[in-house]
Amino acid sequence: MQRCLTLTFARHSRLLLRHKFASVHCQQSAAMSGLLINQPKYSWLKELGLSEDNPGVYNGSWGGSGEVITSYCPANNEPIARVTQATMAEYEETVQKTREAWKMWADIPAPKRGEIVRQVGDALRKKINVLGSLVALEMGKIYVEGVGEVQEYVDVCDYAVGLSRMIGGPMLPSERPGHALIEQWNPVGLVGIITAFNFPVAVYGWNNAIALTCGNVCLWKGAPTTPLTSVAVSKIVAEVLEHNNLPGAICSMTCGGADIGTAMAKDERVDLVSFTGSTRVGKMVAMMVQDRFGRKLLELGGNNAIIVFEDADLNLVVPSAVFASVGTAGQRCTTTRRLMLHESLHDAVVERVAKAYKQVRIGDPWDPATLYGPLHTKQAVDQYLAAIEQAKQQGGTVVCGGKVMDRPGNYVEPTIITGLAHDAPIVHTETFVPILYVLKFKTEEEAFAWNNEVQQGLSSSIFTQDMGRVFRWLGPKGSDCGIVNVNIPTSGAEIGGAFGGEKHTGGGRESGSDSWKQYMRRSTCTINYSKDLPLAQGIKFE
Ligand code: UN1
Repeated sequence: MQRCLTLTFARHSRLLLRHKFASVHCQQSAAMSGLLINQPKYSWLKELGLSEDNPGVYNGSWGGSGEVITSYCPANNEPIARVTQATMAEYEETVQKTREAWKMWADIPAPKRGEIVRQVGDALRKKINVLGSLVALEMGKIYVEGVGEVQEYVDVCDYAVGLSRMIGGPMLPSERPGHALIEQWNPVGLVGIITAFNFPVAVYGWNNAIALTCGNVCLWKGAPTTPLTSVAVSKIVAEVLEHNNLPGAICSMTCGGADIGTAMAKDERVDLVSFTGSTRVGKMVAMMVQDRFGRKLLELGGNNAIIVFEDADLNLVVPSAVFASVGTAGQRCTTTRRLMLHESLHDAVVERVAKAYKQVRIGDPWDPATLYGPLHTKQAVDQYLAAIEQAKQQGGTVVCGGKVMDRPGNYVEPTIITGLAHDAPIVHTETFVPILYVLKFKTEEEAFAWNNEVQQGLSSSIFTQDMGRVFRWLGPKGSDCGIVNVNIPTSGAEIGGAFGGEKHTGGGRESGSDSWKQYMRRSTCTINYSKDLPLAQGIKFE
């Protein structure tokens, strides 16, 4: 333990020195040019078609004359470049152009639409490293995770290509002679996609690839703090559409804030609103969409637990807990926030996980060696400090971390807190930061109940070798979440499954399996090919 602490301290001092130097260097250069994009070190941003000032509207042509926002790098809070957001008039024009584009897109056969989506996947493959680097620079997640989320978009494109030849409904047995009963699936029309800062590429990708294949057009509003990623992704997609002589408005984008989001939620012409973000904002969006009986697809908060039973393989538990709680600096909706440990191994696991926390390499997110980067914003740092204070007041003990780090950028120490009651208010609150609450349990019944007692219902995992327990966990009295795992972490889902959760997580499902149904409307069609008119239920109306 002592050795580990010494090593950690030595590494931290090195990091601090290196960072101090990097930061002085950064400040000097930034003073010369103002924006990171003008520094030779970041010239690769131009490979994505980005410049000092970028248009934040795309609807077949690029524009934007609304508020100019500056995007900052969370690792040093230096400005990267600027984006001009959409005005309400530009939103209006974009919706019209997008709906117009639907008339053509809906007529293209699904397998041909799949071919366009295949080309989008290929275009992303070519830019995967540079786009992953932009995600690291602008969102603050580490480079491999930035590349990983572009990979999710690529994977869902591949999935959607196959889907383009498989969408279909059943032919059902009719009770009437000479009648056919079939299900026809049609696109809903215009899908409005509102995404969050933490997955600025993948979540758009899940929606975009599936919605397009189903015959919909898309209008995207990304997070106001990751506008450069929205612009860069839209440029890649627009190039594919334009190269195929298709209207660019098939995939439109209006950068903006709550004004654009509200307009989309209230707009009868937006046939489906897919919203990913906090439960608080998601509820407002849901109420506005419901008010007009619109369709919504919600991916909201999570308060995900890993439950470790007495028979668990700790060699799987420790790296799983570290990846899922420290990864992306605790800013995934699937992040593990509660680690429930059987009383027989509580102390041993806390010690091993805390030791592993101290080995996590902290640094610049674009450095391939880094495992842990900054929080996305300064506000998140304040939320982190407030949560730690509340946890202490509610009886928690900080066994690891707990402090803001003395370096530029929004860095905080990944934190482990023990000793809280399973139902302490802070444990039931999703704080989007790297704080892990460790709880001690005695029985399976108790652990399953604690898993389910929070408002959110996104992801959950158990670690056990007991087959009976595995099937109880998957069954009606087991986990009530949308994602129910065994011997793997709560985060890092594959695109092949349906992604989403229950209760205050919103109930939506995106990505694989039959999530495509959320982007289509179902018609039940009964066709009489006989000369008679028999009525259902044997009714005689003569
Ligand atoms: C999110 O945090 O909004 O399962 C999405 C995961 C990723 C997606 C997370 N594939 O952690």
